[in-house]
Amino acid sequence: MSQRIRVGVMFGGRSGEHEVSLASAYSVMTHLDPARFDVVPIGIAKDGRWLAGGEAWPQLRADARIALGPSDADVPRGLLDETNAGALTRLPGGALETRPAAVLGQIDVVFPVLHGTNGEDGTMQGLLELADLPYVGPGVAASALAMDKVQSKRVLESAGIPQCDWREVRRCDLERDPERVLATCAEMGWPVFVKPANLGSSVGISKVHGPDELPAALALAARFDRRLIVEAGVPDAREIEVAVLGNDEPQASVAGEVVPCEEFYSYEAKYINPDSELMIPAPLSEAMAQRIGELAIAAYRALDLAGLSRVDFLVPRGTEEIYLNEVNTIPGFTPISMYPKLWAASGLSYDDLLARLVELAVERHRDKSRSATSI
Ligand SMILES: Nc1ncnc2c1ncn2[C@@H]1O[C@H](COP(=O)(O)OP(=O)(O)O)[C@@H](O)[C@H]1O
Ligand SMILES: [Mg+2]
Repeated sequence: MSQRIRVGVMFGGRSGEHEVSLASAYSVMTHLDPARFDVVPIGIAKDGRWLAGGEAWPQLRADARIALGPSDADVPRGLLDETNAGALTRLPGGALETRPAAVLGQIDVVFPVLHGTNGEDGTMQGLLELADLPYVGPGVAASALAMDKVQSKRVLESAGIPQCDWREVRRCDLERDPERVLATCAEMGWPVFVKPANLGSSVGISKVHGPDELPAALALAARFDRRLIVEAGVPDAREIEVAVLGNDEPQASVAGEVVPCEEFYSYEAKYINPDSELMIPAPLSEAMAQRIGELAIAAYRALDLAGLSRVDFLVPRGTEEIYLNEVNTIPGFTPISMYPKLWAASGLSYDDLLARLVELAVERHRDKSRSATSI
């Protein structure tokens, strides 16, 4: 890449992970090499309004529910002038009332640092496909599949990837015939984990120790999604994570381990209580580390992922068993987040990782452009 590249960094979004996205995007914007990249901040407010250019970061930061720490002093002001930015601001409820291409048209590559719904789930990727823009991360179907804990389990099952026992629960069935749903879940024994099918950051997730706790856990998850997943608890689970990078020839990083400070890796353990720890590399036998890396790549291929993803596993302590837990296509991206730390430990610095992700986005777009769209 010889000429300068204008990277539109998207952050915020209509998602429970809005604030986490701001923290990740701040790091991305301040670490993209200014010698090679012009950063165009694109913020999406909680109500769906788009803000581009210099006003995006200060405004979203001011509205954030949690303290974000970093000041906005060194976030690049962006290239979009007021007139162009205006094209993105009239999007009530996120509906596309105006032409996003007016602004997206000035950008070479989009880096959607949007976690969760309306960002990591294929919806934004669809918009970027229509705008015919290269973007960091997997495409529409792969993003949607990886986000959906039920559908991804189905695909990974067909690829022979080991996973825990699970049941799908539809909200409509829970409302119509709760007894039957409770009986289906009880078949797996205890504990079980109840989760909304499409969410992240452990929002709406409960560890259920026995049948008494199940109805409340199902009701909580059903507030967030019309489909739920109930999984058999992996006993005394170590949490092992692998960073995967690449398009057609993905590479796996060393494995890392999360040691949550709570009973499981809950929202509090992730973002509020500072006592959760990361161990990189994870203390694993060479054979286990190798196998986990292979499974991460196999899952990446099965889901047709591209760019990047973090693949998370559960390993019952003291055993050689491995269960794939989930795949995150836009993982946390601050310099102390697992994904970039795993690459740093594997010899790729944070700044070089960002540059590589932009390259991969361009490569993938070029490759897709080779496919015929008419007969
Ligand atoms: N089947 C399971 N067995 C044991 N622990 C689990 C299981 N599923 C989830 N957990 C715990 O709950 C956490 C959050 O679940 P996860 O599926 O990763 O949701 P999220 O997408 O919100 O990160 C995990 O990091 C782990 O601590
Ligand atoms: Mg997780």
